[in-house]
Amino acid sequence: MCGIVGYVGTAKSVEVLLGGLRRLEYRGYDSAGIAVLDGDGSIHTRKHAGKLAVLLNDLDQHPIANGSTGIGHTRWATHGGPTDVNAHPHLGDDGKLALIHNGIIENFSELKEELLAEGYTFESETDTEVAAKLLGREYGRAHDLELAFRTVVARLEGAFTLLAVHRDEPDVVVGARRNSPLVIGLGDGENFLGSDVAAFVEFTRRAVAIGQDQIVAIRADSVTVTDFAGAPVTTEEFDIAWDASASEKGGWSSFMAKEITEGPDAVANTLRGRIVDGEVVLPDLDRIGDEALRGITRIVIVACGTAAYSGILGKYAIEAWSRVPVEVELAHEFRYRDPVLDDSTLVISISQSGETMDTRMAVQYASEHGARVLSICNTQGATIPRESEAVIYTHAGPEVAVASTKAFLAQVAALYLFGLHLSRVRGSLDAAEIEANAAELQAVPEKLGKVLESSESIAQLAGWMADTRAVLFLGRNVGYPVALEGALKLKELAYIHAEGFAAGELKHGPIALIEPGQPVFVIVPSPIGQPELHKKVISNIKEIEARGARVLAVAEEGDAFVPPLADFVIPIPLAGPFFEPLLAVAPLQIFAMELASAKGLDVDQPRNLAKSVTVE
Ligand code: F6R
Repeated sequence: MCGIVGYVGTAKSVEVLLGGLRRLEYRGYDSAGIAVLDGDGSIHTRKHAGKLAVLLNDLDQHPIANGSTGIGHTRWATHGGPTDVNAHPHLGDDGKLALIHNGIIENFSELKEELLAEGYTFESETDTEVAAKLLGREYGRAHDLELAFRTVVARLEGAFTLLAVHRDEPDVVVGARRNSPLVIGLGDGENFLGSDVAAFVEFTRRAVAIGQDQIVAIRADSVTVTDFAGAPVTTEEFDIAWDASASEKGGWSSFMAKEITEGPDAVANTLRGRIVDGEVVLPDLDRIGDEALRGITRIVIVACGTAAYSGILGKYAIEAWSRVPVEVELAHEFRYRDPVLDDSTLVISISQSGETMDTRMAVQYASEHGARVLSICNTQGATIPRESEAVIYTHAGPEVAVASTKAFLAQVAALYLFGLHLSRVRGSLDAAEIEANAAELQAVPEKLGKVLESSESIAQLAGWMADTRAVLFLGRNVGYPVALEGALKLKELAYIHAEGFAAGELKHGPIALIEPGQPVFVIVPSPIGQPELHKKVISNIKEIEARGARVLAVAEEGDAFVPPLADFVIPIPLAGPFFEPLLAVAPLQIFAMELASAKGLDVDQPRNLAKSVTVE
């Protein structure tokens, strides 16, 4: 939620800030704004409701003075609707200070009362303006932005990343962080701040993550980080693995289209160097250690949305291979039900962004209650990996489209690597079994490439179905999370009612939804790999077909049972049961994207959503 960028250097900050906001827009796109200090000690702000394009257009037509210090913000509204007035930055009372914010200040009403009683007035409905006025008041007392920040953060409750600039200190951007993300980019004669590294990857590959409850001040030639009390803290620099061009759309019609085609690379890059001579090599797990892995009696996977569906696939494979019981729980449900945890429980969190607040809170809860915590994450410098005992990074590259696609595939690949590693450590699979599964995993990118070749016919299907009002998705066993994912994609992109069901559940209620013409996607298991389940799913297809459903099947190439029963068949190459879902999911992602496009919708930035959900 909300993208934040800060810059101090010698370049024209408007360009740097807008470039950063463009790459952070996936975090929120209700409104956007910037504040820039010019050389004469004036502060210039511009902000607008709507997507970043509205701000860009205005700045194009009516440029503002361009200095080399500034802050920028792209918003996902929490307090107050997406209007020009509520957009950030917000100004201090004397107009000398501008502030942007990501998060929710929970005690803002009480602070507002205090300021109102002192005669302050407010233009917006936001909690952010309260912080801006408070900072303005404290600056009036301290005449030092960092000192004023310390006083302010001591008064705030909730989650916040705050960045501010002040007219009287034109060479510095000061930021504070509690429970919301903030990363420093280290340049040469210039420094950056961003909600994540995408904000500045175009300019530098050197970054530093800021810890919880810390204040940072960046100047052109220095960076200082202290705790909220002002004591210096040690920080660790890391190199950004992402390529700047990877977060550009290139010639693609959308980031989503580009990212779906990057699926094979996302899997290949996640596997790279981690399968050697048929053996899984995961030094990432050294911090937990083999002995601890042998002592584990239970695994709990916590995640949200698409990441949780990758977790269900992980559950099936890890449990089958390692014989350790695995549960999957939505992260926001997990910590509010007093789960049983001890040091023989391994909690695995999965998060593309590494910032999802629900998942982060689950990780924190698990650590506090004595569980071992491993995270699977795609974003370096993010909070969740920093707060976990060990991390397996997926190497899917930046995912800009709000709907997750390639990251899902990389998450499943990472879970499978972990499952095979665990099985070796515990001796539940022999070397030949591990090698065979590792080979299947390595074959996924090429097979997935073949699946993507059928994009055109799926686009055609989606075009025919642009007026559809509801779609059902059925799958059994490992096909079930694929059905859930297909339905989620369609809901979030095309705003069509879509439900994913376990096919076996059909007769227990959902079959009542079937009426003539109802489109139903069915994920058909392999007749070779899962003959028993295949028979059952064929029966399910017959049941819905008899009631007039339009059957859209994702089935293995050469499965002769499906074409006579289905209205449309999407073939996928032959693969082992655990690997087929990685191939079956791409057609559903493409279908949702194409149907949304056929309806004229923005597939990269669906309504009401933000990519990184940093509030609970
Ligand atoms: C759906 C989608 C979301 C995310 C979920 C978790 O397409 O993208 O459901 O998967 O919000 O996000 P991360 O993985 O960043 O924790």
